[in-house]
Amino acid sequence: MITIAIAKGRMQDGALLLLARAGICLSEEALNSRRLASLDETGRYRFIFVKPADVPVYVEHGIADCGVVGRDVLLESEADLLLPLDLGIARCRIVVAAADAQAMTKVQGMIRVATKYSQIASAHFGARGIPVEIIQLSGSVELAPALGLADMIVDLVETGRTLRENGLTIVEEIAESTGRLVVNRASYQLKAEEVARLIQALETALNGKQ
Ligand code: PRP
Repeated sequence: MITIAIAKGRMQDGALLLLARAGICLSEEALNSRRLASLDETGRYRFIFVKPADVPVYVEHGIADCGVVGRDVLLESEADLLLPLDLGIARCRIVVAAADAQAMTKVQGMIRVATKYSQIASAHFGARGIPVEIIQLSGSVELAPALGLADMIVDLVETGRTLRENGLTIVEEIAESTGRLVVNRASYQLKAEEVARLIQALETALNGKQ
């Protein structure tokens, strides 16, 4: 059996849809339940549903053989994982945003950046030699500039609606993010056949989409 960790939230529906197109389906009953672990209809795959940032943890420790998680989370994580496939789902951008598009040149003193993505933000500003104070938040990051907690944010943008409705505009784009298949290194060797079958089924489902 192969255990697949799915990131709950923005990734979940797209991941389940793609897996279903690859022939790996959860029953209606499992889909409608609140169980956090369920077997697929063949009993060959077990799905576990965890917070996005925990997907790399479960997969690196081998509790899950594989996972579906956004590149944003992987850039933030230091887990040592194999990344065989870009699934193209939940496409979004990681950006720097502020109330004023010229904020980068206007802020006096050290720029305060609120974010859930402290590693990505530090690396981005560090590479430009811009000293920043990172303010770590867990969500609703778009509130921080309006309330005076930060000058800018680093966050995900999908439709742009959250930025717009909170009076923010994109200052810089850092990276694109899509859902990725990640695989535990040991599982890749020890369950080579099953993992290869999963990768191939997903590749076929992806190619069928184009
Ligand atoms: C993300 C991100 C933004 C929003 C962007 O939040 O942090 O708040 O989605 O989407 P939009 O451009 O389509 O408006 P997410 O739903 O991942 O949850 P969060 O509140 O934990 O950040």
